[in-house]
Amino acid sequence: MKFFIDTANLDQIKEAEALGVLDGVTTNPSLMAKEGITGRNNILKHYVDICNSVEGDVSAEVIATDFEGIIKEGEELAELHEQIVVKVPMIKDGVKALKYFSDKGIRTNCTLVFSVGQAILAAKAGATYVSPFIGRLDDISTDGLQLIADIRQIYDNYAFETQILAASVRHTMHVIDCAKIGADVMTGPLSSITGLLNHPLTDIGLEKFLADYNKGNS
Ligand code: E4P
Repeated sequence: MKFFIDTANLDQIKEAEALGVLDGVTTNPSLMAKEGITGRNNILKHYVDICNSVEGDVSAEVIATDFEGIIKEGEELAELHEQIVVKVPMIKDGVKALKYFSDKGIRTNCTLVFSVGQAILAAKAGATYVSPFIGRLDDISTDGLQLIADIRQIYDNYAFETQILAASVRHTMHVIDCAKIGADVMTGPLSSITGLLNHPLTDIGLEKFLADYNKGNS
């Protein structure tokens, strides 16, 4: 399973990259705003800065919601850097745009997916990635992981090539459960990646090994 980090914070992106397990980055307008990145030119420059900080795909989201606007914005984003993947919302004009981009060889990430029906449409339109938001489903007492499992089964039934990008991951158990189900990618905060390191027996074991070494070598 590929690991993407879901942030526009360059320090966190660099920290995850330095760990050596990062495969890409996802952003969205809220994450860009959280970092204080505003204004079209600053936003475009920030995408390039992110691309220059990591190896792998960087999702950059369009703001337009009409077909022509999505195409214009998406083409501009795709031209910024070869690592850019154009993030398109799951709306009617978004689906049309996914097909257009797919025919043009521009890679896409279909975002704001909350149902299997939406995931089928994204795959049929040729999306590179589909992003079901599991945390936001859990927030409304709906099983986000079950959605990942259902999409996995359907995509496997028809050998759809669209990759399942489990999004809105909130914690380490989401990561582990997505891996069990067979999601192709997960995107979450830095803590969902670094949290996988932690185990008290590792800490206790290391402390004992070092204490025993020091007893014999002091
Ligand atoms: C996906 O690409 C989104 O940026 C993201 O995962 C949304 O996560 P949230 O529900 O924690 O905001």
